[in-house]
Amino acid sequence: MKIGNVPYRSVWVDQEDGWSVHIFDQTRLPWALDILRLTGRDQVAHAIRSMQVRGAPLIGAVAAYGLALALRVDAADAAMERDAALLADTRPTAINLRWAIERMLARLRPLPAEARVAAAYDEAGRICDEDAAQNEAIGRHGLGLIQEIAARRGEGATVNILTHCNAGWIATVDWGTALAPIYMAHDSGLKVHVWVDETRPRNQGAALTAWELGSHGVPHTVIVDNAGGHLMQHGAVDMVIVGTDRVTRGGDVANKIGTYLKALAAHDNGVPFWVALPSTTIDWRVTDGLAEIPIEERASAEVTTVTGQTADGRIETVRVAPPGSHAANPAFDVTPARLVTGLMTERGLCAASQAGLAELFPERAGEA
Ligand code: MRU
Repeated sequence: MKIGNVPYRSVWVDQEDGWSVHIFDQTRLPWALDILRLTGRDQVAHAIRSMQVRGAPLIGAVAAYGLALALRVDAADAAMERDAALLADTRPTAINLRWAIERMLARLRPLPAEARVAAAYDEAGRICDEDAAQNEAIGRHGLGLIQEIAARRGEGATVNILTHCNAGWIATVDWGTALAPIYMAHDSGLKVHVWVDETRPRNQGAALTAWELGSHGVPHTVIVDNAGGHLMQHGAVDMVIVGTDRVTRGGDVANKIGTYLKALAAHDNGVPFWVALPSTTIDWRVTDGLAEIPIEERASAEVTTVTGQTADGRIETVRVAPPGSHAANPAFDVTPARLVTGLMTERGLCAASQAGLAELFPERAGEA
């Protein structure tokens, strides 16, 4: 996607700059567009843990490059396995992270140590290219749904879409998952408007989704997380589209905390609730999302504080809870498949069910 007139991906390698890995520091957006240059494993691990990079597909891609950087220091078997495990453990919920590291190891293990660095950069590059292509395909499939709603609403009507967290291009390598169909609808001349959940505690909606949509000229309105149900009751939401960090073989969806409440409200109001994902987000080994998906618990300070920009341009973090109050911070929740209208994948749309996923991905359906 473009920033101004310059096309960017969310992660790239600069060969002339020592094959360093570049990302946008998402803890600084939307106030500053800082590019970080990552040159080692620990820098990559820190970037993922501190959420300088975030979003399920993107942390997988960046971790893959992290392994390439680590191999430049030591490409022997023991070091490679240690560094891969360290990178895979940086965040627990998004399966894309583990998927990317497992894919890297599958390519690298059979190779002699001296061939591993080049192969690792190559494989990480393939992961990035495939993610961008998959998200573009998700966008095309989702666009069909938005077109259907627009046709039903009648000439000139605006399609109102609610989204939670940030599942846009900076959460992936390019395009985004939930936002890809929205960008395509807007680019094709359809009238779309997005209700952007602010997404406390880290405000990925207010900070990142609003920044993305605004940069692309997509009309949007930031709302507090609790406004969605009210808007649905009053007919102001035509559909919900969210991304996800892990989908079970049966269609349960782990996503940013608060997604479940949006799904309940959508169900109660007959609003279609769609989840957009590349197949790298499906955990074929997991059946029961509630019981089996690990939910990241993050620092309580994320809840007791907010970060923003002062009138004179400084980025500051201030307390919103009294000192001494405890805070809990589960970062994700699980929406049961029964509340999900359908899944948008790179192969098309399907029901959030074992049968639905098996129809689109027959080659994976036998895995347990
Ligand atoms: O904690 P985050 O910001 O990494 O959480 C991100 C989300 O919940 C996204 O919806 C999900 O990763 C899908 S990104 C295409």
